[in-house]
Amino acid sequence: MEKQKLLAQGKAKSMYETDSESVLLMEFRDDASAFDGKKMSALNNKGKVNNQFNAFILDLLAKQGIETHFIETISTHESLVKKLDMFPIECVVRNRATGSLCRRLGVEDGLILDPPLFEFFLKDDALGDPLINENHILSFKWASQSDIDEMKRLTFQVNEILRELFDKANLILVDYKLEFGKFEGRVLLGDEFTPDGCRLWDKDTLEKLDKDRFRQDLGDVIESYQEVANRLGIEINLD
Ligand code: ATP
Ligand code: TYD
Repeated sequence: MEKQKLLAQGKAKSMYETDSESVLLMEFRDDASAFDGKKMSALNNKGKVNNQFNAFILDLLAKQGIETHFIETISTHESLVKKLDMFPIECVVRNRATGSLCRRLGVEDGLILDPPLFEFFLKDDALGDPLINENHILSFKWASQSDIDEMKRLTFQVNEILRELFDKANLILVDYKLEFGKFEGRVLLGDEFTPDGCRLWDKDTLEKLDKDRFRQDLGDVIESYQEVANRLGIEINLD
């Protein structure tokens, strides 16, 4: 598969066209960003760690019946994916309250949410990714009711699978963000699942092992991602 024209350059990944119209090359760069791009930095090995972390998780989800865009890794920091028609929406599930939820509703940090809380955000950096609801999605025609239902169903199914996976690694899956798109009429999981888009706390110490280490200047960002990978049995190749 040949790497062709750059299609889109996001804050952490670059998407390239390939010689197949339905396949994209997803390159994980070393760039880290937070606060809608207001804080940016390059972190050594981030691209490699996230590419291989994402491959492990999306492969595991596929084995559990969740259809994703992931095809295969082709280098330490690049993967091939199906080209999706992305919804401009982020699906967030929270098992514990933290981050923007605590700021918005004044609830205690770490509060257990039972049932887990589902939220939609609009993918728009210029607007600061605002919180939206299903009515916004329908009125602005960002997705149909059946697509909304499918995104919610899949996001909760991912929660069941990954909560258990991380629990076995002595980690709490606090919250995470997923993005979906359409492929041949079906709703597929796209983008990535890495410590960049979720929160993971050590079960005993509640130490943060995710992108909050970058957001809050806690240090050892990539070392923490590698610690999570190690606990999951993912062998990361940094060559
Ligand atoms: P954020 O960091 O908030 O996710 P971004 O747009 O800067 O935003 P990147 O991860 O750097 O994100 O870039 C990846 C881009 O590619 C995103 O816009 C994402 O929606 C899009 N994308 C992910 N998977 C696919 C896919 N299979 N087909 C088409 N576009 C995709
Ligand atoms: P949230 O608490 O809303 O974000 P923050 O405190 O960073 O403002 O985010 C909930 C989870 O979803 C968290 O793990 C980060 C992830 N997320 C993203 O990765 N990108 C996003 O644009 C959003 C809205 C959330």
